[in-house]
Amino acid sequence: MSSADFEIAFADGGKTRVFIGPLAELPALCGEVGLKGTPGLICDSRLLDLHRPALRELESLGPPIARTVLETKKSLAEVDTMCEALAARGVGRDGFVVALGGGVLTDLAGLAAALYLRGVPWVSAPTTLLAQVDAGLGGKTGANLRAGKNLVGAFHQPRLVVCDPALLATLPVRERWSGLAEIVKCALIAPAQDAGGEPFLDRCERDLEKAASGDLDALAPLIEASVRIKARIVAADEREGGQRAFLNFGHTVGHALEAATQYARFTHGEAVALGLRGALFLSHARGLLPPQDAARALALVLRLRVEPDRRLERDQLTATMEAMARDKKALAGQVRFVLLEGLGKPKLHQVEPALCAQAIAASLS
Ligand code: GLY
Repeated sequence: MSSADFEIAFADGGKTRVFIGPLAELPALCGEVGLKGTPGLICDSRLLDLHRPALRELESLGPPIARTVLETKKSLAEVDTMCEALAARGVGRDGFVVALGGGVLTDLAGLAAALYLRGVPWVSAPTTLLAQVDAGLGGKTGANLRAGKNLVGAFHQPRLVVCDPALLATLPVRERWSGLAEIVKCALIAPAQDAGGEPFLDRCERDLEKAASGDLDALAPLIEASVRIKARIVAADEREGGQRAFLNFGHTVGHALEAATQYARFTHGEAVALGLRGALFLSHARGLLPPQDAARALALVLRLRVEPDRRLERDQLTATMEAMARDKKALAGQVRFVLLEGLGKPKLHQVEPALCAQAIAASLS
């Protein structure tokens, strides 16, 4: 299985070391990036049994602060609990936080690291496919408010990201499909990226189902390609003033579908997989995406498995439209979408409500 080790350099001089390989390397890597004080290892409690042998390798970081984190409990109260636990552990200004878990945990523990003692360094060790290819790197940390998802947070770049694809073998297959939606999104915005010696999009087309089955030889090159794309984008645009928004391809409808179904029906990746259909529909309907590219992209997107029933009640469709209109980036009644002007050519477009409704219908068809 491949491993990768590289650095993301940010405009302010900050750096993130990215390592794709065994979790056992994490303590040594912390030392290499200069993290030497008292660590606070915040760990998803579900991992404690699941990955006991891998976690034994992290004993030098001290006993884990085990937290059960769910999207419905992604709150500032949880960040408060984490900060209290860091204080009880005696983590000082020279200390650091290690976040081991899925995207909800890395977002919350990253925010705890941003706030505790007005900011201590942190290490992100994402353990789900979705978090390894998206949430676990890029420095967006956050918690939910009653008013919406991730409405409070901070940009706080991890000093180190460690992704161990071997941890994904025990992931439920539905979770692997969820992560693959973000991988396919990356392949469509950067199809020529190298993925194990061949173009990313070709590799996705060849290995998608194999990767979903948990075959690590198929998964690892797709993870590495996605991580490299995200790393390149966030290095150029850390605070989403421009091209970082391209990572939201498929998310305009996706986020609205999640909100309209109370985050209870679709996984994030399933909502993104549906949102990709809508975004491709719009790219084609606006005459931006050549027909052969549209057909190729849609054929791949339709292979992403979405388990739940896609039929929405009338009030849920209305709620989806309303959620899109409430989008932070909506402007004068028009909704902002990332559309493709060719494979690998994402661009932001404002879309009028009538066409938005058609995009939702295309997502659910
Ligand atoms: N998840 C999109 C981003 O990190 O910008």
